[in-house]
Amino acid sequence: MTTMIPLLLLSLILLSFIPTNGEDPTDGEFGFNGFLYSPYGVADLKSNGLFQLTNSSTQLLGQVFYNSPVRFKGSANGSVFSFSTSFVFAIVPENSELRGHGLAFVISPTKGLHHSLPRQYLGLFNETNMGNFSNHIVAVELDMFRNQEFGDIDGNHVAIDINSLMSKKASAAGYFKDDGTLENLVLGDGQPMQIWVEYDSSQNRLNVTLHPVHVPKPKIPLLSLVEDLSPYLLEFMYVGFTSSTGRLTASHYILGWTFKMNGTAPNIDISRLPKVPRGYQQRQQQTLKRVLAISLSLSAITLFIVSVFVLMVFHQRKKFMEILEDWEVQFGPHRFSYKDLYIATKGFKNSELLGQGGFGKVYKGSLPLSNIQIAVKKVSHDSRQGMREFVAEIATIGRLRHPNLVRLLGYCRRKGELYLVYDFMQKESLDKFLYSRTNGSSLEWSQRFKIIKDVAFGLCYLHQQWVQVIIHRDIKPANILLDENMNAKLGDFGLAKLCDHGIDPQTSHVAGTLGYISPELARTGKASTSSDVFAFGVFMLEISCGRRPIVPRASPKEMLITDRVLGCWDNGDILQAIDEKLGQQYLAEQVTLVLKLGLLCSHPTSAMRPSMSSVVQFLDGVAQLPHNLLDIVKSRDFDGGRGASQEADESLTTNSLASLTFTESFASHGR
Ligand SMILES: *[C@@H]1O[C@H](CO)[C@@H](O)[C@H](O)[C@H]1NC(C)=O
Ligand SMILES: *[C@@H]1O[C@H](CO)[C@@H](O)[C@H](O)[C@H]1NC(C)=O
Ligand SMILES: *[C@@H]1O[C@H](CO)[C@@H](O)[C@H](O)[C@H]1NC(C)=O
Repeated sequence: MTTMIPLLLLSLILLSFIPTNGEDPTDGEFGFNGFLYSPYGVADLKSNGLFQLTNSSTQLLGQVFYNSPVRFKGSANGSVFSFSTSFVFAIVPENSELRGHGLAFVISPTKGLHHSLPRQYLGLFNETNMGNFSNHIVAVELDMFRNQEFGDIDGNHVAIDINSLMSKKASAAGYFKDDGTLENLVLGDGQPMQIWVEYDSSQNRLNVTLHPVHVPKPKIPLLSLVEDLSPYLLEFMYVGFTSSTGRLTASHYILGWTFKMNGTAPNIDISRLPKVPRGYQQRQQQTLKRVLAISLSLSAITLFIVSVFVLMVFHQRKKFMEILEDWEVQFGPHRFSYKDLYIATKGFKNSELLGQGGFGKVYKGSLPLSNIQIAVKKVSHDSRQGMREFVAEIATIGRLRHPNLVRLLGYCRRKGELYLVYDFMQKESLDKFLYSRTNGSSLEWSQRFKIIKDVAFGLCYLHQQWVQVIIHRDIKPANILLDENMNAKLGDFGLAKLCDHGIDPQTSHVAGTLGYISPELARTGKASTSSDVFAFGVFMLEISCGRRPIVPRASPKEMLITDRVLGCWDNGDILQAIDEKLGQQYLAEQVTLVLKLGLLCSHPTSAMRPSMSSVVQFLDGVAQLPHNLLDIVKSRDFDGGRGASQEADESLTTNSLASLTFTESFASHGR
């Protein structure tokens, strides 16, 4: 900025004639040059070449006069020459939108008007000399205050004053457009304005023309006073500006000034004018703009953050979205949040996969807060009707508590997926022990017998001890889980039932696992407690023999486990069928019981099979197997076997029928 000062100062010297520094009178032309002016009061030449007459302090007087006197007449009694002057001023409100008093261009006999008053007197006069002919003052005032005592027309006017503030001519601030209409201007709006004061001695006419700097000088003057100035002006006069503030303040600036005697003042190059400092209004606007910019950017940032957050939440919510329907509310306590399950299973990571069952993948997990270990079964299902029934059943199953049943902790439903949450079983499923090369040998007979009894207890509870009959439908080693103490627990009960719902029995496959499906179940597709007993029988044989129910590569006589055990028995030594891994470490009596009972349970004719409560009694040694058991198991004829079956289990038929009937009514009730 400082480097620009000389340039700006020089740029304002618009005249070729530069008067000497002394008191020599000037009768030529001059422009703005800081060195040649006499400031008075608070008037101050700014470093950028701007004359500041007043600042924001109140009741101030600021004056600046050209240093040398100017010759206005050829002689003391002669007439005033024509003259022309133009200046650019700016009145910048400082504290409020109210602008205080004004400024005036003045032709004065003295260099400065040091005895005059500020405020409404504009530094032109004082209380005693108003109107005195001896004042010799001609001024053009730019007044922003309506002073009744001087007959001011308004609070924003331009006027010609001669020796008095009672103006000779006044007009509201503005300029005439070419069509003769007056365009109003606000003197104190902080914008630079140019004004021309021109005296034509041939017509004795004093014209005052005001216009904004960006508007060319209007052809029609704002004020035109016909008055011979000769009596008022002396031969040598000083020219300058006076300005005052009152209680209301503003900064008054002169940006550029040219003067010419006997001619037209050179125009002012507005492009080279110094900058007007920002005033209150502009500062307000600036602050407002800044505040606006800051708040806009802040709100943009906030909006961005909020939308990112919302998107994230939305995404998160979508990711963890679940549907809770009215009918589900009653099952509330059983319901897990998907989010918890997602966290528990580390996002259903493959590393957490325990296995893949008939209904879906099973993941290991640990609940976020409680750290309880769980197994989560992911079941794909998209039939809403089936889902509803299933959840109802889940709730039922969830209430089941038995040491030999895997506890169902709850469920979670999301889109077409269903998640079942079970207690986590440390040793996982039995089939891994039975068929894995590393663990298989470690399963002793006593353990196997305990597992058989555990499963029998669990199944008996499902069939006969719970308020409703629950058919497991898929008994097999894979669904028998072992806890850390090798206690067996029956898992996955009730699941197969879901798959039966809403499926046309004529086209569907039968739920269950090949080898464990009873003949009548394969025929009718209708599961019953009896078909569970069949599967349990096969399981008993399987765990004793350590082989799968069906071994396709074996000879036809040995392909089915039942045929193999029955064959051995028929040949006189049923123990021939048992698992080689057992060696001699078994109780022959127990093994025989299990094998024979296994054969009875897996009897092709459902009516021949005992109920689970009978099975438990046989295993406990409370009841004895019938002596003609070999005949019974060898019999494949339903009618022929009826008598024998009654011997085996008197209540068998009625039990089976009862449970079948109950199952039907339960199913229809579920709709
Ligand atoms: C105005 O100018 C006077 C004299 O230079 C000074 O004392 C006063 O502090 C100024 N006021 C402001 C508000 O700058
Ligand atoms: C100027 O006019 C006054 C009277 O108005 C007169 O006394 C004086 O002599 C005149 N001076 C000249 C130089 O003409
Ligand atoms: C008024 O101004 C005149 C000069 O024009 C001066 O002689 C006079 O003393 C001033 N009066 C007061 C009261 O200041």
